[in-house]
Amino acid sequence: MDYALLEAKAQIRRQLEAFGPELNDLALEHPPKGINADLAMPVFPMAKAWRKGPPVIAKEIAEKLDWPEEGLIERAEAAGGYVNFHFKRERFGERVVSDVATHGLDYGQLDRGRDHTVVLDYSAPNIAKPMSVGHLRSTIIGEALARIFRKLGYATVGINYLGDWGTQFGRLTYAFIQWGDEAALEADPIQELLRVYVKFHDLMEEDESLEEQGRVWFAKLERGEEEALALWRRFRDLSIREFEKIYRRLGVQFDVWSGESEFYSAMSDRVIQEAQEKGITANDQGALIIPLEEYGLSAPILLRKSNETTSYETRDLAAALYRLDTYHPAKVLYAVGNEQSFRFQQIFKALELMGYGGVEWVHVNFGFMTLPSGRMSTRKGNVVLLEDVLDEAIERAGRVIEEKNPDLTPEERAEVARVVGIGAIKYSDLSQSRGKDVVFEWDRMLAFDGESAPYLQYTYVRCRSIHRRANVALQPFDGAALEAPEEHELLKTLARFPEIIEDAAREYAPHTIANYLFSLAQEFQGFYEKVPVLKAGSEAQVSNRLQIVDSVATVIRSGLDLLGIEVPERM
Ligand code: ARG
Repeated sequence: MDYALLEAKAQIRRQLEAFGPELNDLALEHPPKGINADLAMPVFPMAKAWRKGPPVIAKEIAEKLDWPEEGLIERAEAAGGYVNFHFKRERFGERVVSDVATHGLDYGQLDRGRDHTVVLDYSAPNIAKPMSVGHLRSTIIGEALARIFRKLGYATVGINYLGDWGTQFGRLTYAFIQWGDEAALEADPIQELLRVYVKFHDLMEEDESLEEQGRVWFAKLERGEEEALALWRRFRDLSIREFEKIYRRLGVQFDVWSGESEFYSAMSDRVIQEAQEKGITANDQGALIIPLEEYGLSAPILLRKSNETTSYETRDLAAALYRLDTYHPAKVLYAVGNEQSFRFQQIFKALELMGYGGVEWVHVNFGFMTLPSGRMSTRKGNVVLLEDVLDEAIERAGRVIEEKNPDLTPEERAEVARVVGIGAIKYSDLSQSRGKDVVFEWDRMLAFDGESAPYLQYTYVRCRSIHRRANVALQPFDGAALEAPEEHELLKTLARFPEIIEDAAREYAPHTIANYLFSLAQEFQGFYEKVPVLKAGSEAQVSNRLQIVDSVATVIRSGLDLLGIEVPERM
């Protein structure tokens, strides 16, 4: 048995089979508010084959369909070029409420992905540098997608592919040996590493020999020389410790930490060998490349530089092959900013040429996030530190909450501020279509009456408190006592949750869920203004409406959970 709406659609499809497979591709749409129908099927695409006008076609279809007594569909009728479907409201309502009540927070769980694995590559900050806002976006988006795919029944492997290898670490080791300060490294590792790295770069402009030193030291790293490696290892450990603080605050965990450094040697050799065997490589002034011009890509992949060291692209290819061998994924997703789109086109093309095109390789790209300039404290120079952003969000949330609800104890307020502040950051990121740039605006993010995490969290708290106050024993949901059209509309919206999750997964688009939750919350607020709950006309209605309210709470909570956002019980 499927969820109510999926079941209703399946029943319609079954009736459409009377016409053979012809109508299979016609969509079953959710008509906009104001249209009197529960689902609508546009028949325009059939006009050509049937040589008839859409209204005639719609009529022929509607008349031929016939609905079994025990089903969820009451009737169909033609309306212009559409066939409109109407549900049996009583039965449909009972089904929706029972779906939500039986599954609880698991409502919406599907098994579409059973026996399939999705590998997600996200966050991936670069060691020895502060985590950037781009990495924050990657972390938030990647974590949401992992949760969304799990909800659809996929196994997921979340990988933090640390940027811990490359020429820059040759430069950094050299720079630290020259100018590093041990005590400063202990006190604030990333700051000190950044300092010597910046110094190296400044001096490099006048002193060309430095660039060569960087290469020499990177070659030492790739050859495994202990002096260089020991330093690098320390930089890495210290950086991870800093990153973990941020992940802990964001509530993010990875299944695997596996950085670039794991893929430069044996794994890269394998990539190079396989590419050569496929005959897709060429030599270019001592370097080994995969030319890609004939596939419309303007630059080749650099597989091995003339000094024998590996490139970012080679390591990515090596990591890709390792992931195939290890996890046998159906899809591999990379949550990385738009600025690397070209690289991923190159990498995916190379993988295809090497014979690995059978897997879905997806660049889950996203735009820039602009942080607020004004009041952001930039404690350390002009880098905005993510920790400061998180602190500030929590502090601001605390102030808003104090104003709204002075009755909370300081402990409660601190906890709510954390949940709201972190939630606000995540929601403001996830509610926009990810390819676009996001402007970070405190007031909007924290507005209790706008499209924001606090608005959704507040709606959840409100639903819960209605029920708490009511203190009535619930009766079994009684479809016959459904009366207000708003009830039916809200139940239909609740019924859409499972397919919204599927839509989000199909497009790798968490904003589909964010936007759905926002409209659910708005619809609920409208419902609650118009439709009496505790003062409804009969006991059956009070009980019904409380169960609808409970269902709204459950869906908001479980939807926010998919976005990695927590809810408070009071606020
Ligand atoms: N560390 C890289 C950066 O900060 C991101 C890595 C993304 N993942 C990948 N497989 N290339 O730009």
